[in-house]
Amino acid sequence: MTSDTLKYYSENSKNYFETTKSIVISEQIDRFLSFVDNKGELIIDLGCGSGNSLKYIIEKEYTPVGADYSDELIALAKKYSGADIFNLDLEDISAVNKMISDKKIKHLFASASLLHLKKNVFIKFFDEIEFAGVFFFSVKEGTGESLDPAGRFFAYYTKEELDDILRQRFETIYFDRNEDKLGRGNNWLSYILKLKTCK
Ligand SMILES: C[S@@+](CC[C@H](N)C(=O)[O-])C[C@H]1O[C@@H](n2cnc3c(N)ncnc32)[C@H](O)[C@@H]1O
Repeated sequence: MTSDTLKYYSENSKNYFETTKSIVISEQIDRFLSFVDNKGELIIDLGCGSGNSLKYIIEKEYTPVGADYSDELIALAKKYSGADIFNLDLEDISAVNKMISDKKIKHLFASASLLHLKKNVFIKFFDEIEFAGVFFFSVKEGTGESLDPAGRFFAYYTKEELDDILRQRFETIYFDRNEDKLGRGNNWLSYILKLKTCK
């Protein structure tokens, strides 16, 4: 199922880029950045898509890099945002941790990307991810896993389900439920987390 998701983003990269580059979740990014002590601390945008958030974060004079698994989107997002962007599969959690450690990345930002992981992989991600700073992520509210008409895989979560997954390792420093900006009728659940071991 995951490979159809990559195929979708790669084959539709130009259209996806044009449709999403100017949709910026500025309020949520501003809140995330308010927990970043120093503008020089490295932030990684995991599943950065069009580079919309990267561009905004750079304009705010913070220091982000990006990661995505679609080479086509990476090329467009690099040109648009000016950020360094690496090819990284978020399913490969040890590779994500290695990149965080090797590049001394402090903060994680994952807007609408981890929802493409199967639930068992999503849980493993949260069981194993290591970072020193703060971590923003957002997913669609709902239940179960399904493919959309274009063949993209989505997992949906309730707040209770996420709280159960996060309780053991993370302190939730901010939670938000908000409506979809494109009016698609779903709500988004957003968290800003710290690892409990990193106080
Ligand atoms: C719905 S888009 C969100 C893009 C951007 N973060 C935003 O908020 O506009 C999901 C992005 O995650 C990327 N993605 C999905 N699964 C991934 C994976 N396993 N590894 C790396 N990137 C992935 C896709 O290529 C796409 O760019």
